[in-house]
Amino acid sequence: MTEKPLPTILELTPFNEQFRLDPHVLLDDLRSRCPVHDDKGSGSVLFTRYGDVRGIVNDREMWRDPMRAEAGAVLQQRFTAGVDPNLPRTSTTSILMLDDPDHGRVRQPLAQALYARVAKFRPQVERIVDEALDDLAGETAFDLMDRFCVPIPIDVIAQILGVDRERLVEFRAWSEGVIQSLNPLRTPEQTVQMEAASLALSDYFTETMAARRTDPRDDLITDMVRSQAEDSGLSDDELRINLSALLVGGNLTTTDLIGNAVRLLLLNPGELAKLRADPAIINAVVEEVLRYEPPVDMTGRIAPEQMELAGCPLRSGQSLLVSLRGANRDPEVFDDPHRFDVSRKHKPHVAFGGGAHICIGAPLARLEAQVALVKLFDRFPNLALADPAGTPAWRMLPFFRGMERLAVTA
Ligand code: HEM
Repeated sequence: MTEKPLPTILELTPFNEQFRLDPHVLLDDLRSRCPVHDDKGSGSVLFTRYGDVRGIVNDREMWRDPMRAEAGAVLQQRFTAGVDPNLPRTSTTSILMLDDPDHGRVRQPLAQALYARVAKFRPQVERIVDEALDDLAGETAFDLMDRFCVPIPIDVIAQILGVDRERLVEFRAWSEGVIQSLNPLRTPEQTVQMEAASLALSDYFTETMAARRTDPRDDLITDMVRSQAEDSGLSDDELRINLSALLVGGNLTTTDLIGNAVRLLLLNPGELAKLRADPAIINAVVEEVLRYEPPVDMTGRIAPEQMELAGCPLRSGQSLLVSLRGANRDPEVFDDPHRFDVSRKHKPHVAFGGGAHICIGAPLARLEAQVALVKLFDRFPNLALADPAGTPAWRMLPFFRGMERLAVTA
């Protein structure tokens, strides 16, 4: 009897209905039959075991910049299409795709300023969540994504950056526009919207950076122009591109974390009852959602030299993809991995990647989700899914998992 063929990368995206409905049938099969899978279609090796994934993301010798991938790494090459190789790399990409020494040089001052802001930001997040809930007062049926999960992360990052209230409507529109850069299937109209939004944002940052130099305020843009003047020496391009990266990296992902969390808790009333009985367990609840239904499927690295990994020889420049979703359900590490269990003994998931590139927004995403969930279930004691047996409206965006809509009743 011939064995079933192994899934290709394309089959591990929402375009494949089987994956969309339950990604773990394919990921479990891949992990058990071929945990180090040489996928010819993407020109990448795909890892699904927790130990391998954790080892790769934590390895600071690995490269990240797709410009350094070998010629056959077709998926990596998609990220560099149209990039002018004559420009300095720090003018064409954010820290997400930079390698050291530039990565550390740009990330360090940005992380320092962002973490300091997040550490004192809880009261503002609480206010933003309260306002979103106030807007829903008295309503008995609504789309939770549209009314709650989408606006909160945008308003939070706008406040951190220091966007004036009268520019908030424009800023929201630009944020939604630049998010299209993550959508490889965007329509021509969406591409036009994306390009216009990124130009408008870039102009906005240029204008605001100049304004904060003469009139400093209590916001992240002021922090960054100050650090530029004092010690970091980051260029204006580096500031603009990385401030935009906070928007692109942080909005959709945090929206999906909150949406996935609400759906899972409503489908698992026993787990929701534990949270209602003791809201202090919210940390563990958010970590279990990040393990069980992470918003980001995969991240990548590039082998810096000829090497052997998990018994497989790798070429220098070979593209490595790691399945964060697969690793988070590895039965070698997590008991009964397909059970959503907020009382699970904590073992670190890999939803935020790791090592030098670990998600810079993780503390903010955690704060937003924790505040949003506690307040939502407190304000709406009878919250329920409008169609609990229905198929969720999963978004068709490869390598991300979140919902287009989530109809609820209150
Ligand atoms: C639940 C929400 C989020 C998830 C699941 C998530 C996931 C990730 C992952 C998997 C990576 C790649 C890590 C690696 O390759 O090792 C990453 C990087 C990044 N994330 Fe997030 N993220 C989230 C929220 C945010 C937020 C709120 C922000 C901004 C405020 C943000 C900004 C970034 C940036 C700029 C990077 C690049 C970091 C680097 O390469 O040094 N993310 N994120």
